[in-house]
Amino acid sequence: MTDARITAMINFVREGSRVADVGADHGYLSIELAASGRAKFVTATEKNPQPLQAARKNISAAGLDNVIDTRLGDGLQVLSAGEVDTICIAGMGGALITKILDESPEVVQSARQLILQPMNASEKVRAWLNENGWAVDDEDLAQVAGVIYEIISAVKSSEVVPKKFKRELSPLLKKFLSQRVEKFRRILNAMSRSPEARMSEKFFATRDELNALQREIDGLP
Ligand SMILES: C[S@@+](CC[C@H](N)C(=O)[O-])C[C@H]1O[C@@H](n2cnc3c(N)ncnc32)[C@H](O)[C@@H]1O
Repeated sequence: MTDARITAMINFVREGSRVADVGADHGYLSIELAASGRAKFVTATEKNPQPLQAARKNISAAGLDNVIDTRLGDGLQVLSAGEVDTICIAGMGGALITKILDESPEVVQSARQLILQPMNASEKVRAWLNENGWAVDDEDLAQVAGVIYEIISAVKSSEVVPKKFKRELSPLLKKFLSQRVEKFRRILNAMSRSPEARMSEKFFATRDELNALQREIDGLP
């Protein structure tokens, strides 16, 4: 049930926090947060009834019904301002994560920490944090079954402490960036087959991004 990705997220949660696990799916993150004692209380939200049902079953089997509440609904809309200190959103695309944050400004503003694990477009998440008064105070890379995940912790900019994670020192960074380069290469190859796509803004932006990633890789020890 626990893996390196979930462990990395839990490590960022401050002891005794009240945590929202948005898009809880099977409920594994919520269960680990509560079972480890790291979270004082967890509110697990899910947009879809089926995964929520599975989460409820797993939570009951773990004997954690008294410390994990489950709610059916969209993003943070089923929470009230001040209910949680920490908001975890994991396993979704960067665009969906920022949409969920944008749709519930009062809940987000009342939290002290955001722990985000975007499956893509992490630069979109980082830009959102920057534009909305949050600063990355720590981050990590975690590998599960050959896939490398980015985990970002953010606090209010006014509270910022020096960032702890030295990204360039992570043994996973080169592999992570190389996987992204490969992904961009596949996109560019596919786009090259269409003359229209080959001249599009997206093509050139992707190519620039690929080149920037390659320069980052080349600069690594
Ligand atoms: C890939 S799973 C990730 C599960 C878990 N967070 C993790 O990282 O292991 C994404 C889950 O988010 C749920 N989801 C998608 N959009 C959502 C939204 N707007 N609000 C709440 N849940 C959502 C999906 O139903 C799905 O169960």
